[in-house]
Amino acid sequence: MGLKLAISGKGGVGKTTVAALIARILSARGSKVIAIDADPVPNLGAALGIPEDRLPEPISELSEMIHERTGSKPGTMGGFFKLNPKVDDLPESLSEEIDGIKLLTMGTVDHGGSGCVCPESVLLKALVQHLVLQRDEVIIMDMEAGVEHLGRATSTAVDLLAVVVNPGKRSVQAAKRILPLARDLKIKRIGVILNRSRGQQDAVEVRELLPEFEFLGALTEHDEILDSDRLGKRPFDDISKIPQEISSLIEHII
Ligand SMILES: Nc1ncnc2c1ncn2[C@@H]1O[C@H](COP(=O)(O)OP(=O)(O)O)[C@@H](O)[C@H]1O
Ligand SMILES: [Mg+2]
Repeated sequence: MGLKLAISGKGGVGKTTVAALIARILSARGSKVIAIDADPVPNLGAALGIPEDRLPEPISELSEMIHERTGSKPGTMGGFFKLNPKVDDLPESLSEEIDGIKLLTMGTVDHGGSGCVCPESVLLKALVQHLVLQRDEVIIMDMEAGVEHLGRATSTAVDLLAVVVNPGKRSVQAAKRILPLARDLKIKRIGVILNRSRGQQDAVEVRELLPEFEFLGALTEHDEILDSDRLGKRPFDDISKIPQEISSLIEHII
């Protein structure tokens, strides 16, 4: 089975940047990669280099498909619907491909209250479960700050939760808050990636501050990443320019 990697961390630490670079390197090495954008404000597609007019519509917004798959009635609240909709063809039909990477954009289910059992959330959950439990591909999930997207069924099958932090205390505190939740979900392996590192001292500090996390590696602060963001393009368009640090990170992970 291919690697199942979930990436979390405080907003703005570089989850999407790191997820996209790892996905591109693994795909270039011959792995089949499915990248999941599970952030309510999706931007993994842009980080992978998918042009704006080809970005897939968030799955949560495909109401016709959701109603068809769950057997729920459009425009009605409540009522009966299937709790195990067919989803195994969706990774192919709903993804957008770039460099051999299939991107799925989950979107957000917002009906007030996270405990909602509605057709949208049932379908998204079924899709994530299918991807993590049944697929042979490498799955890279770019998540928001928490680990909410990982239900109990999925979390135990995730090979690694990588929490991204930056130098300093703020994102490290956020990482500490994720730890009990991740343990509660019985995630096998919990690691930390230091992003925007400015030197060895930053790595030493993160290791000291987060001794419970496996230290997976660091990505330095790169002007190319900031400049690309400003220009609205992906960083390191030429894949051979992706820093060696990403390969080292992958080596450590696998
Ligand atoms: N290593 C880095 N060096 C320079 N800028 C970075 C680096 N990593 C991320 N950034 C910048 O930080 C911002 C947030 O990154 P992003 O990957 O979108 O974070 P997240 O997905 O965690 O919200 C972006 O402007 C990105 O270009
Ligand atoms: Mg992001």
